[in-house]
Amino acid sequence: MEDLNLTSIFWVAVVVSLMHTVSTTPQCNSDSNLEGMTVEGELLNCTCGSPDAANSTFSWPGYSSGPTLLVPNVRREQNGTHYTCLNQTEGMDNETAVYTLQVAYGPSDNDTVIEGPSSFTSDGTKDLTLTCTAKNVNPSPVYAWPNVNMCANATNKCTFKPSLTDNGREVFCTATNTVLVKTGTAIYKMNIVISTTPQCNSDSNLEGMTVEGELLNCTCGSPDAANSTFSWPGYSSGPTLLVPNVRREQNGTIYTCLNQTEGMDNETAVYTLQVAYGPSDNDTVIEGPSSFATDGTKNLTLTCTAKNVNPSPVYAWPNVNMCANATNKCTFKPSLIDHDKEVFCYATNTVLRKTGTAIYKTNIGMIPAPPVNSDNQGDGLNGKVVAFVVFACIVLAAVCVVFVITFVGKSRHAS
Ligand SMILES: *[C@@H]1O[C@H](CO)[C@@H](O)[C@H](O)[C@H]1NC(C)=O
Ligand SMILES: *[C@@H]1O[C@H](CO)[C@@H](O)[C@H](O)[C@H]1NC(C)=O
Ligand SMILES: *[C@@H]1O[C@H](CO)[C@@H](O)[C@H](O)[C@H]1NC(C)=O
Ligand SMILES: *[C@@H]1O[C@H](CO)[C@@H](O)[C@H](O)[C@H]1NC(C)=O
Ligand SMILES: *[C@@H]1O[C@H](CO)[C@@H](O)[C@H](O)[C@H]1NC(C)=O
Ligand SMILES: *[C@@H]1O[C@H](CO)[C@@H](O)[C@H](O)[C@H]1NC(C)=O
Ligand SMILES: *[C@@H]1O[C@H](CO)[C@@H](O)[C@H](O)[C@H]1NC(C)=O
Ligand SMILES: *[C@@H]1O[C@H](CO)[C@@H](O)[C@H](O)[C@H]1NC(C)=O
Ligand SMILES: *[C@@H]1O[C@H](CO)[C@@H](O)[C@H](O)[C@H]1NC(C)=O
Ligand SMILES: *[C@@H]1O[C@H](CO)[C@@H](O)[C@H](O)[C@H]1NC(C)=O
Ligand SMILES: *[C@@H]1O[C@H](CO)[C@@H](O)[C@H](O)[C@H]1NC(C)=O
Ligand SMILES: *[C@@H]1O[C@H](CO)[C@@H](O)[C@H](O)[C@H]1NC(C)=O
Repeated sequence: MEDLNLTSIFWVAVVVSLMHTVSTTPQCNSDSNLEGMTVEGELLNCTCGSPDAANSTFSWPGYSSGPTLLVPNVRREQNGTHYTCLNQTEGMDNETAVYTLQVAYGPSDNDTVIEGPSSFTSDGTKDLTLTCTAKNVNPSPVYAWPNVNMCANATNKCTFKPSLTDNGREVFCTATNTVLVKTGTAIYKMNIVISTTPQCNSDSNLEGMTVEGELLNCTCGSPDAANSTFSWPGYSSGPTLLVPNVRREQNGTIYTCLNQTEGMDNETAVYTLQVAYGPSDNDTVIEGPSSFATDGTKNLTLTCTAKNVNPSPVYAWPNVNMCANATNKCTFKPSLIDHDKEVFCYATNTVLRKTGTAIYKTNIGMIPAPPVNSDNQGDGLNGKVVAFVVFACIVLAAVCVVFVITFVGKSRHAS
């Protein structure tokens, strides 16, 4: 135990002394000497110690037996390499100093890319986001979007609103290594598609659905389409369709936009209204047997149904462990202790985040013990036996009545 403690203390002392005696960092340079980095392909030239240190010898174990370390034609793969200089002084502890090589390289045009959609459907109001990424570059580059005004201060993500006239235009991204003053350029060609389907929105704009009671607001065509006129026959003579106070009965209604262009065929585009509504508690029910007899091994199946809801709800059975993953059918094995309990079902409209709750009250009874003589043929036989017994009793009763009358009559005469 004591030896172990002494050994530990010794090693802690060694580590602490090493930490405290790391000497001045080596002096390194390269041809360009850019911000302490070595440009790929150049010579790294490091010197350790000083000429005054007459009593010390300096070396780079593994690389050089003298105070000078030369690494010619530095490659990007060598970035981050640690070179250690050893200071040996007679009668003193060894000292070491570390130099970490940082190589400056890249990016090339080949390593610079813009990611974005292959085509973009625009009505002139929607945002397009492009992401520029340069690989194989050190240190991290600075990004710029020289021909997108809205991205003057952007980083590697540029968000702007293209218009229809931007179709076919090239967007540039530059990734600049500020140490090397070297730039990789990427190009993204915009493929802007004129929106043929009408653009619709409502107050909440939930997953393309209109909440019951809200206003549906659709626009057809685009302001650029100067030679075309747009209308919603039956609803609106202009390009805008407004349907206030949308009702559930209107779900599925198809609205048609008409595009009339002089000297051209008429074109149409349709929008199908989807109304989000329900469910309420009143519209949510659990169907199941009014009573259920079991010995604890039988399955009970309950079915939950929500009506008057769009889109279809997601069902859950919050207080039935066995139905954690159930859909609208929940099957479990109730026991007698489950009698007179309330089983809940939730039907949730995930778009509206609205839930209808249904309750089923269990009525669990014990299965009666099976009858002892329960062969099917016995039914007819038993009937005959019963008839015989009843007949015998009646005959016996009649005999008794006759006997009693006779006996009582005789007694009266006798008294
Ligand atoms: C390394 O650097 C030292 C000090 O700057 C210089 O004297 C020496 O010539 C350099 N060696 C090479 C091979 O460039
Ligand atoms: C080398 O090590 C000795 C002994 O620890 C120390 O006195 C000296 O300053 C060191 N030299 C350099 C250049 O770090
Ligand atoms: C080198 O060592 C000698 C004797 O060991 C001593 O006299 C001298 O002062 C030392 N020089 C330095 C620079 O430490
Ligand atoms: C290059 O090495 C430095 C120092 O270890 C490190 O900070 C940097 O992340 C490395 N660069 C790359 C691109 O690996
Ligand atoms: C210093 O390092 C050298 C080479 O690794 C080794 O041979 C020597 O024993 C070390 N001296 C001390 C005092 O640790
Ligand atoms: C870029 O890629 C092209 C084709 O893949 C290749 O011919 C060219 O040498 C590459 N340029 C650089 C700098 O990597
Ligand atoms: C960019 O930043 C400058 C200074 O903060 C500001 O004046 C300018 O409006 C910004 N440009 C954009 C497009 O955000
Ligand atoms: C309909 O939507 C357009 C475009 O989003 C908007 O400019 C306009 O104000 C909206 N109209 C109504 C009545 O909300
Ligand atoms: C309207 O119809 C014309 C003629 O067919 C067509 O060129 C144009 O693209 C259409 N506009 C829209 C917004 O669909
Ligand atoms: C509109 O029509 C005029 C003449 O018919 C034509 O010169 C012009 O290019 C057309 N504009 C568009 C946007 O189609
Ligand atoms: C609402 O309309 C959509 C689109 O026509 C249809 O898919 C959906 O089944 C309808 N929902 C109801 C509950 O009728
Ligand atoms: C385009 O539709 C309008 C309205 O329904 C109709 O009056 C006109 O004749 C149609 N034009 C063509 C070329 O079909």
